Amino acid sequence: MPGSRRTSQRTDRWWTFAAPGYDRTVALVGWHRWLGELVAGVDGGVVLEVGCGPAFLARGLRSRGVDYVGLDRNPAMLHRARRGTHGWGPGRSRLVRGDCTELPFRTGSFDVVVAAGVLGLLRAPQRQAALRELARVSRGEVRLLEPIARGAAGTHRLRTRLLAFAPDGQIALAELVDAGLRPELVGPARLAGVYSQVRGTPLGKRPDR
Ligand SMILES: C[S@@+](CC[C@H](N)C(=O)[O-])C[C@H]1O[C@@H](n2cnc3c(N)ncnc32)[C@H](O)[C@@H]1O
Repeated sequence: MPGSRRTSQRTDRWWTFAAPGYDRTVALVGWHRWLGELVAGVDGGVVLEVGCGPAFLARGLRSRGVDYVGLDRNPAMLHRARRGTHGWGPGRSRLVRGDCTELPFRTGSFDVVVAAGVLGLLRAPQRQAALRELARVSRGEVRLLEPIARGAAGTHRLRTRLLAFAPDGQIALAELVDAGLRPELVGPARLAGVYSQVRGTPLGKRPDR
């Protein structure tokens, strides 16, 4: 079995184990407040969240009339998400099982594409593939709450490994540029300086698929 598939299966087992207590645990560090900030000002259209986990964002977005699509690779997380997204209109929600490195959506399908706490989990080549996919399916913005390098490369390497489970360290803003996005940092760094919010708008032509 190829190494990357074995690693994916190991991490999927971890998320299956973590799913029931995930929201309660991340609430302890204020994660939900930062998630809320990530979708500030989004009051209409269709939002895709990749690596949605229990889909905490769905409730708030749907109550503002936003249609929400959550994608995750892990069935246990999607099971939690299904419970949490039931009956919170007027916006609609849909949950999809899939991998963020190969999104099952057409180019330009979403007004805003969101990723929080997922890209950092990937090895560098996979996260580059995922960033390209996020840029491709967005017709507006890509918004991330991820371990982002704000200064010299390699800052907070140990903290990033421990707090973001990021095997290849923080994500450089240049990686967003390579994916066809113009990145802009928003607000202060969170969780001991490891996570930041960044918004990316298309640089021009989207990568084709
Ligand atoms: C830290 S949780 C984040 C959940 C949610 N975004 C939040 O901020 O609360 C990471 C999620 O990413 C999912 N995930 C990990 N790798 C993935 C991949 N390659 N494609 C899709 N989902 C993935 C996991 O199953 C897990 O639900």
